[in-house]
Amino acid sequence: MKRIPEPEELMDEAEQAQAYAEADFSASNELFLQLFEQLHPEAFTGRALDLGCGPADIPIRFARRFPQARIDALDGARAMLDLARKAIEDNGLEQRIQLHCRFLPANLNSNYDALLSNSLLHHLNDPLDLWQTIRNSAHPGATVLVMDLLRPESPQQVEALVMEYAADAPEVLRRDFEASLYAAYTLDEIHEQLVSAGLQSLEVNQVSDRHLAVHGILS
Ligand SMILES: C[S@@+](CC[C@H](N)C(=O)[O-])C[C@H]1O[C@@H](n2cnc3c(N)ncnc32)[C@H](O)[C@@H]1O
Repeated sequence: MKRIPEPEELMDEAEQAQAYAEADFSASNELFLQLFEQLHPEAFTGRALDLGCGPADIPIRFARRFPQARIDALDGARAMLDLARKAIEDNGLEQRIQLHCRFLPANLNSNYDALLSNSLLHHLNDPLDLWQTIRNSAHPGATVLVMDLLRPESPQQVEALVMEYAADAPEVLRRDFEASLYAAYTLDEIHEQLVSAGLQSLEVNQVSDRHLAVHGILS
């Protein structure tokens, strides 16, 4: 099935951001944490960067799971960052999670020990914006975990996934989920992106009926 890009890269409308922040993504966000623990079995104590952090549920879970970690969380949408700031304050984590309003590609000039991103890749019209930011922001040996939706093979499969996971969700979220499935990349497309970006040390696999993960250690 042909890819249909998202209408907008950023999620900067207040209503859309609020609906997203209120949705329950605990199952997929916990899957993200489990995948990270498989990649990095010892307790993580370094600096992590989360790209496209949205309302910051993953940075908050990450900070709780790894009490010595420090996290920079970046998003280009102010509406999302306002919600992220509130959630971080509610969890008392403002000393350990710093928010940054930045648009990818970003030259962060830094040396992160882990690069994280969930559900950002399918928003990008040029996926190299993510892969180059990852290359430029971490040192060899850094752990990389990027999770996203996997584009289904047919509109019928899109509809089945929307019915299974979003039948009772508000209309704005159902539309977002459907558009995201159409905008998602395939395993083969991502494999080619990694080769173009010189990130052949990373692997990509399907990790659920609707998710894929790119993971590994930067060479
Ligand atoms: C689907 S949300 C995912 C949020 C979060 N990572 C999560 O797992 O819940 C995608 C986020 O990426 C942000 N985004 C999209 N394109 C971006 C870009 N080029 N630069 C920075 N942020 C971007 C959007 O504003 C949105 O908050």
